[in-house]
Amino acid sequence: MSVEIKTIGVLTSGGDAPGMNAAVRAVARTAIYKGMRVYGIRKGYAGLLANDMFEMNIRSVSEILHRGGTMLYTARCLEFNSSEGVQKAKDICVKNGIDGLVCIGGDGTFRGALDLSRAGIPCIGVPGTIDNDIACTEYTIGYDTAINTAVEMIDKLRDTIQSHARCSVVEVMGHKVGFLAQSIGIASGALMTLVPEVKYDLDRDVVERILYTQRSGKTHFIIVMAEGCGSSHDVADFIQTRTGIETRVTVLGHVQRGGIPTARDRVMATEMGHKAVELLEDGKGSRVVVFKHGEIMDLDIEEALAMNRTLDLSKFEMTKMISL
Ligand code: F6P
Repeated sequence: MSVEIKTIGVLTSGGDAPGMNAAVRAVARTAIYKGMRVYGIRKGYAGLLANDMFEMNIRSVSEILHRGGTMLYTARCLEFNSSEGVQKAKDICVKNGIDGLVCIGGDGTFRGALDLSRAGIPCIGVPGTIDNDIACTEYTIGYDTAINTAVEMIDKLRDTIQSHARCSVVEVMGHKVGFLAQSIGIASGALMTLVPEVKYDLDRDVVERILYTQRSGKTHFIIVMAEGCGSSHDVADFIQTRTGIETRVTVLGHVQRGGIPTARDRVMATEMGHKAVELLEDGKGSRVVVFKHGEIMDLDIEEALAMNRTLDLSKFEMTKMISL
């Protein structure tokens, strides 16, 4: 028999992502509409362990829909990885009358949500990370904004490298995987995109492509490189030495994590946050909200964490044909 959920908590954990605020807003407003009390927990699981929370009302989440970052702050928390930490978090939830939690973040956040669910506090994970690297979902909150930010920056770089007939190596985020880099590469028209999933040979895959396109009249070159691939400075040095073309490095870095969330991120975050509260209301815990086949749905957290998703390599072949 499911327990009636009267009070919930919401937190954001791990790296922030544009759109997290929209998810927090949706959670708070949906829960209040349904007659629940809502606590905003600051700084993720670290804040939960420190009992750092405040009760929200419908105005607590005003004017955040269009803002990047997270009004609840975020953190990565080692203490929560231990069974003592999870027990302490459970005790704090019980003390505050929190019957369920919505945990917005990436894989690490979901692992925490699973542990806490097992300890007796139903938790729902909502995917929020610019990396789009959570296997169980085709979309994570923040991905679209990060792509758009990077593409806007690369469009600006294109102007200056064109004027100087240079090559630009642009390092983008994505942690250990290339989902973000792949989309940025396609949308910015990069001559080549290097990702950790595909073994590359700099002479064959970069230098030869530069020289080939140069013979066809191309004068400037953009190489997008995922941060998980190694040193962008080494790649730039290699290109300059082999081709004689002046090559510059731009590391986009944390700028990709900030900024006004795109409409897509706001919509996805709103739908996902709303769904998370519905799941708690239905007495469900240990679930994650996902986007699959064009629909918002939910999966068991443990099954979700065991899934694998690989990069669609056919897109690389497509890009190689088109970005010349
Ligand atoms: O997971 C999001 C992300 O921005 C990754 O792309 C990046 O590798 C990492 O976080 C950076 O983490 P930090 O904020 O600790 O520098």
